[in-house]
Amino acid sequence: MVTGASRGIGRAIAIELAARGFDTVASMRNTADGEDLPGPSGIRVERLDVTDPSSIALPDGLRVLVNNAGVESDNLPVEHMPLESWQRLFATNVFGLVEVTKRAVPTMRAAGGGVICNITSSSTLAPVPFLGTYRASKAAVTAIGESLAAEVAQFGIRVIEIMPGPIETEMLAASDRPSAAVEHAEYRELAERLWEGRQGIRASYTPAGEAARRIVDAICDDDGPLRYGCDDLSEGMLAGWNGTDNAQWVRGMLRSFS
Ligand SMILES: NC(=O)c1ccc[n+]([C@@H]2O[C@H](COP(=O)([O-])OP(=O)(O)OC[C@H]3O[C@@H](n4cnc5c(N)ncnc54)[C@H](OP(=O)(O)O)[C@@H]3O)[C@@H](O)[C@H]2O)c1
Repeated sequence: MVTGASRGIGRAIAIELAARGFDTVASMRNTADGEDLPGPSGIRVERLDVTDPSSIALPDGLRVLVNNAGVESDNLPVEHMPLESWQRLFATNVFGLVEVTKRAVPTMRAAGGGVICNITSSSTLAPVPFLGTYRASKAAVTAIGESLAAEVAQFGIRVIEIMPGPIETEMLAASDRPSAAVEHAEYRELAERLWEGRQGIRASYTPAGEAARRIVDAICDDDGPLRYGCDDLSEGMLAGWNGTDNAQWVRGMLRSFS
């Protein structure tokens, strides 16, 4: 089962899982968005809004859950980000994911094990200005995933975290403009510099289908690590982060942003 499979990375993962023979449920808020997905033997489309517990029903025999549904907001300095934006992001990216995951654990345990795959973001590895709210919601999932992995390994449930870089989806397109922080005089110069820097990663934008292939490889990688990238940029960042003294990594990143 994949959450947020109406479009973007989630839809691509559902298609890739079905292509590899998984009996796949593409869950989404509006099932009309899934009308063009392959028919009954490939992908089943079901309604699921992660912020609405009454809509969460998981199939018996569930072996793979991909917690993909996610939202972001205007990128603003911590000083100016409205509390409602923090609450909205955490409602979906953290509390919604927790609600689905809580229900998946007993179902998977009963099925003899499985894989819980959380989609976070490689941005948590870099102190990117104006992304504090989004990064915090994803970093919360990192911590939840680590504890969960330690709790459920005994049931044969593997927990993995995918940390995408820039993947070509509507979410990436929406963020492909100068940060809303330019409206705040004290942060304008930094926002403009950040936008210039953004041009440098444009060549790394990766199609969702390619990311999905790497994500499903990770799901099937039985003895693999906890964390994976799913594109060249995030795989490079993860390798750099893994291989470097953390203080040195953050210092280097801070220098490049400020
Ligand atoms: N694209 C990137 O560059 C990138 C980078 C790092 C991490 N990510 C993460 O990857 C995941 C997928 O992102 P994407 O780029 O594919 O974004 P996207 O194109 O905006 O798709 C987001 C998906 O999440 C769904 N969703 C939002 N709120 C939901 C809710 N309450 N319940 C169920 N589904 C909900 C959306 O459904 P609707 O169609 O109903 O709105 C949509 O299917 C997210 O967790 C995102 O944070 C993406």
